[in-house]
Amino acid sequence: MHLKRDDDHQHGPPVISITFELEDPEGLTGTGQKTWNVLGGEHESLLEVAIDNGINIEHACGGVCACSTCHIYLERGGEQVNDASEAEEDRVEEAPGIRRSSRLACQCELKDLGAQRGPIVIRVPSWNRNAVKEIPH
Ligand code: FES
Repeated sequence: MHLKRDDDHQHGPPVISITFELEDPEGLTGTGQKTWNVLGGEHESLLEVAIDNGINIEHACGGVCACSTCHIYLERGGEQVNDASEAEEDRVEEAPGIRRSSRLACQCELKDLGAQRGPIVIRVPSWNRNAVKEIPH
């Protein structure tokens, strides 16, 4: 599924430091590299940052909060992304292995807090690649 992006979706310069820890680097990137240090911009989602850097987090619904395949753990820097909406909270409960730090990568939008730009640490669980499930019609 392609990531749905608004044509007028603007984001800031890539100045926010994000670390992705991949439990299945081979499945997500085709490499053995477990730790990826990348930069994101304000108003960008964690899913967009990941995809733009070659980390292929599953996103069955295209990033519109209609599945839970982009489930990640936000382990550090939670104050530097928006709070979860009620819709996201409902949806993330359907993901396997849910924890307090569970979020949907497509719904986490970066905030530029100026002096504090990272570190944000994301863990992508190993089952991410195979978590696609049927969406009821
Ligand atoms: S990609 Fe479907 S909820 Fe994030």
